[in-house]
Amino acid sequence: MAEPTSYDVVIIGGGPGGYNAAIRAGQLGLRTAVVEMRKTLGGTCLNVGCMPSKALLHASELFAAANHEFAHLGIEVTPTLNLPQMMKQKAESVTALTKGIEFLFKKNKVDWIKGAGRIAGPGQVEVTAEDGQKTTLAAKNIVIATGSEPAGLPGVTVDQQRIVDSTGALSLPEAPKSLVVIGAGIIGLELGSVWRRLGAEVTVVEFLDRITPGMDAEVAKAFQRELTKQGMTFKLGMKVTGAKATKKGVTLTMEPVAGGAAETLDADYVLLAIGRRPYTNGLGLESVGITLDRGFIPTDHWKTSAPGVWAIGDVTVGPMLAHKAEEEAVACIEAIAGKAGHVNYGVIPSVVYTAPEVAWVGQTEEELKAEGRAYKVGKFPFLANSRAKINHETEGFVKVLADAATDEVLGVHMIGPSVSEMIGEYCVAMEFRAASEDVARTCHPHPTRSEALRQAAMGVEGWTMQA
Ligand code: FAD
Ligand code: NAI
Repeated sequence: MAEPTSYDVVIIGGGPGGYNAAIRAGQLGLRTAVVEMRKTLGGTCLNVGCMPSKALLHASELFAAANHEFAHLGIEVTPTLNLPQMMKQKAESVTALTKGIEFLFKKNKVDWIKGAGRIAGPGQVEVTAEDGQKTTLAAKNIVIATGSEPAGLPGVTVDQQRIVDSTGALSLPEAPKSLVVIGAGIIGLELGSVWRRLGAEVTVVEFLDRITPGMDAEVAKAFQRELTKQGMTFKLGMKVTGAKATKKGVTLTMEPVAGGAAETLDADYVLLAIGRRPYTNGLGLESVGITLDRGFIPTDHWKTSAPGVWAIGDVTVGPMLAHKAEEEAVACIEAIAGKAGHVNYGVIPSVVYTAPEVAWVGQTEEELKAEGRAYKVGKFPFLANSRAKINHETEGFVKVLADAATDEVLGVHMIGPSVSEMIGEYCVAMEFRAASEDVARTCHPHPTRSEALRQAAMGVEGWTMQA
């Protein structure tokens, strides 16, 4: 039998964790292969996650603006939805991005081994190609980056026809008249927004008595108010007990979590978006003695319990975000190469790409209170920001939380226009352990929305100038 091809690093999974790890490994001169079973590289994020959802959010936001905002600006148009074209431009962008990863692999001398990878024992990855052919790779290091998949709910069977998960909701064949979203989390609200803007009556059913758990509660309340103004309906504190699909629609049954009468709800489509779970099917973890913790692969600085086996991204504990996977990818490969890989888990931002957008980094007020940490608050509304006012985008505010004694910025929470593009400023500030005064005394260009970031920092010591 021929000797297996041998690598310094074999990465299982070609998503943001896997592909960034591969590129960094290539840069550092390590002989690297990525095993990916999808037909294209890029994982969940590029194929059925971040990128196609942002393509639809962008297009539907412009459609809604043409419908509801252009006339006020003196632009008279009557837009018509061409859904096949909207889907086509989304698919074209996704293809360009996934091909871009293939190009980067070639540039960095990374081999893409097509097929499903399984750890066959220490230092061995067996790959099963689509046609059933098996090959074995020898690896000094194995990096698991197999990501996650949508979580299921008993009684609600996803058929991708009438009852869809996020993947189905990115490719509905028509704009529904009515859509029920189960789960008021990030996927539910982003994709719910897309279809609301394209004409659907959207009802969001959530188990908890609030939306977007993990988001600062004051921001979450303001966010729910804005989405309600846009026509979304929220049914909070409700437990879905079943869903029955026919060719024409779905009937959902639910009951109040606190007890009470059951209800039914009819809709054209149902989107199930109650979280994601780590994906480790058929990975052969038992061959190297790795045991899961609530489905996740336990790690210590990206090392698993098995020597030479590492894990990063959604398959490990922490926020299921592409940029978290990317940070871990670089740090893990640098650790493999004998460098000082590092991730600052306190500075991983979150963004919801709705309109208004929501963005935050660091601790929420609730977390600081629970910790008993003394903190000061600076707040600034976009209503008082000249650029936002001129653009008629005055919803929302910026809130800066700083340590009461040292003034170190501990958390920043924003809801408003373009906040996704502005949170990076506070990530840098927090990475450098800035005081709120450092931001308050930094000159910002006028007129920009970014001035609201500075004004909120000024508010920590009570010297906001414009509100
Ligand atoms: P994945 O991207 O899931 O990649 C894992 C890859 O491994 C997959 O391609 C899979 O086919 C492959 N694989 C699994 N097992 C094997 C095996 N045995 N052999 C070979 N290949 C295998 N995050 C953000 O930060 N911003 C966003 O805006 C955002 N939007 C999202 C929108 C949606 C609708 C969804 C669903 C997710 C979104 N996310 C977003 C989350 C983001 O997609 C994930 O956090 C990210 O993709 C995780 O990267 P990963 O590399 O860990 O895993
Ligand atoms: P989520 O964890 O954000 O939200 C799930 C929601 O469903 C929660 O509010 C939860 O309380 C609720 N829920 C759970 N069980 C329920 C039940 N039985 N009935 C009703 N509600 C229930 O998960 P989501 O939205 O599925 O997204 C998964 C992950 O994907 C996110 O956590 C995030 O990490 C990632 N993502 C990130 C995006 C971004 O960064 N912009 C966009 C989309 C996804």
